Amino acid sequence: MSALRASDLHKTHRRGSEQVHALRGVSIEVHPGEVVALLGRSGSGKTTLLNCLLGWETPDRGTVEVPGAAGPSAASWRELAVVPQRFALVEELSLADNVALPARLAGLPDPLGAARACLDELRLGPLADRLPDEVSLGEQQRVTIARAMVVRPAFLVADEPTGRLDDELSGRVLAVLREAAARDGAGVLVAGHDPLVLDLADRVVRLEDGRVAEVP
Ligand SMILES: Nc1ncnc2c1ncn2[C@@H]1O[C@H](COP(=O)(O)OP(=O)(O)OP(=O)(O)O)[C@@H](O)[C@H]1O
Ligand SMILES: [Mg+2]
Repeated sequence: MSALRASDLHKTHRRGSEQVHALRGVSIEVHPGEVVALLGRSGSGKTTLLNCLLGWETPDRGTVEVPGAAGPSAASWRELAVVPQRFALVEELSLADNVALPARLAGLPDPLGAARACLDELRLGPLADRLPDEVSLGEQQRVTIARAMVVRPAFLVADEPTGRLDDELSGRVLAVLREAAARDGAGVLVAGHDPLVLDLADRVVRLEDGRVAEVP
């Protein structure tokens, strides 16, 4: 199977007369079974790049390929799942139902059982029946990881998935992502500042000012 690939992406955000060149010719590949860390200072373009990979933003120039899908916006959650920087949990659903949702949409057997197993892996089993606003932000963040994992996606992009977690829980989350790569052969792209992300990755891509920088 081939790689999740972006080639020569350019993206300028325009607000009135103001222009921000968020991506200035970025190329990146993520292969099945590898964990790639996407590092870079705040504002360097990480989220913009992930949004283009997901089809949530359209690049001004360049192409995105998602294996198995006609294009990024046509990809199913099983082809490409996301842990967004803002969580987008459904407020009316329990944590278990939030996590089960992609499994239900994918028509998998026993979505709720799969959801509970993923929540257990992330140490959230006892909270499974609570609503999102009845748990902490760090707990909500881990729910979004369970929601991405539940369908065992071929590719997974995670935008600062450990941003609100202490070292022990960050380690747990990163171990779960690592396992997705090792066990399911998922290709994982993790954006973040966390030194633990660096330790975990097979490869590092560093963005500086909308460009891929040389890694020393
Ligand atoms: N919708 C938008 N309109 C205007 N400018 C934007 C918009 N979205 C992002 N930007 C700008 O584009 C640049 C890249 O933003 P991006 O969110 O990709 O950075 P990031 O590396 O993810 O940062 P962080 O680590 O803080 O999440 C920043 O200068 C940001 O202010
Ligand atoms: Mg970001």
